[in-house]
Amino acid sequence: MKKYNWAILGCGWIAEIFASDLKTLDNAVLYAAASRNIDKANRFAKDFGFQKAFGSYEEMLKDENVDIVYIASPHSFHCEHTILSLKHKKAVLCEKAFAINSKEVEKMIKTSKEENAFLMEAFWTRLVPTFQKVLSIIESKELGGLKVVQSDFMFRAPYNEKSRLYDLNLGGGALLDIGIYPVFTALQTLGNPENVVANVIKSPTGSDQHIDVIFEYNEDRRAYLRAGFMNDAPNFSIFHFEKGTVQISREMNSPILVKTEEGIQELQEDDGPGFGYYFEAAHVMECLDNGCIESPILTNQFSLHLIQTLDEIRRKINVVYPNHD
Ligand SMILES: NC(=O)c1ccc[n+]([C@@H]2O[C@H](COP(=O)([O-])OP(=O)(O)OC[C@H]3O[C@@H](n4cnc5c(N)ncnc54)[C@H](OP(=O)(O)O)[C@@H]3O)[C@@H](O)[C@H]2O)c1
Repeated sequence: MKKYNWAILGCGWIAEIFASDLKTLDNAVLYAAASRNIDKANRFAKDFGFQKAFGSYEEMLKDENVDIVYIASPHSFHCEHTILSLKHKKAVLCEKAFAINSKEVEKMIKTSKEENAFLMEAFWTRLVPTFQKVLSIIESKELGGLKVVQSDFMFRAPYNEKSRLYDLNLGGGALLDIGIYPVFTALQTLGNPENVVANVIKSPTGSDQHIDVIFEYNEDRRAYLRAGFMNDAPNFSIFHFEKGTVQISREMNSPILVKTEEGIQELQEDDGPGFGYYFEAAHVMECLDNGCIESPILTNQFSLHLIQTLDEIRRKINVVYPNHD
């Protein structure tokens, strides 16, 4: 089994969770942690068992032994950090949102091709068995055609102008942070909409604190999507078919509820003991084993459609990221 040396770029909150899942993969070597601050990098490396710590991202990228870089900086730096990593011939798994807008994502994809270096958005839910099962139910047509998708992602994060979630310079706002998940769910299951309707409640910084989005498709198909920081919510995705409904929760390892005329059936997939990031990391290494520069499952073309849709929603709710649009 070929082993890969992983490096973390940006030792923040999600990097910690990702690193703890990475540890459980036999072919992943926890090689390097890079932070803008060497003390923070040293602490992170020690806490999670990385062999090396770097006090600069570029210094880490110059290390020839690094195979894969996991980019966990704020959205507004994803393009810069991805391109820098690809130019150092590193494979890249970059956190969502892939970048701040579609122009940046186009540049990232172009660089991946020019450098012949692997690139994938860290859209971990695509690789989680529960979501794969939903896709297989849709494909099988056992419940007839899919007509309506409802998907929510909300949690309470009180207004704080210093928080990444509210800072437009960092791409803060409900859309790129959590709204991306319901949008992803609709695009994966119903495809690209014919029309987008969107409403927003803005925070004092002008960021989107809450969004309501409707995707309109032909043949009266619809997606109703909500995201925001104003309140906690059960956060289900519900798929309404001609002959029943399928409901999944954002909680890992929750049963899939299938309701039909015959009653309610519970399906249980094994999403593993971790936080769910295991599957995307394993998939990256499988792609590299196969000599691919992109995933055949989570393609860069899909990631481009995703960010183009987010751009369109943003135009409708009139949210602008300074120095990026
Ligand atoms: N997949 C998921 O489930 C999930 C969950 C949460 C977040 N995310 C994504 O992961 C990314 C990071 O989110 P997070 O919640 O981990 O954020 P965070 O805790 O603020 O961490 C971001 C890290 O980026 C680095 N960074 C580089 N330039 C920065 C700057 N100018 N300002 C602030 N930080 C800077 C910092 O690392 P150093 O100080 O070490 O350099 C910082 O710790 C976001 O794009 C977010 O959407 C994904």
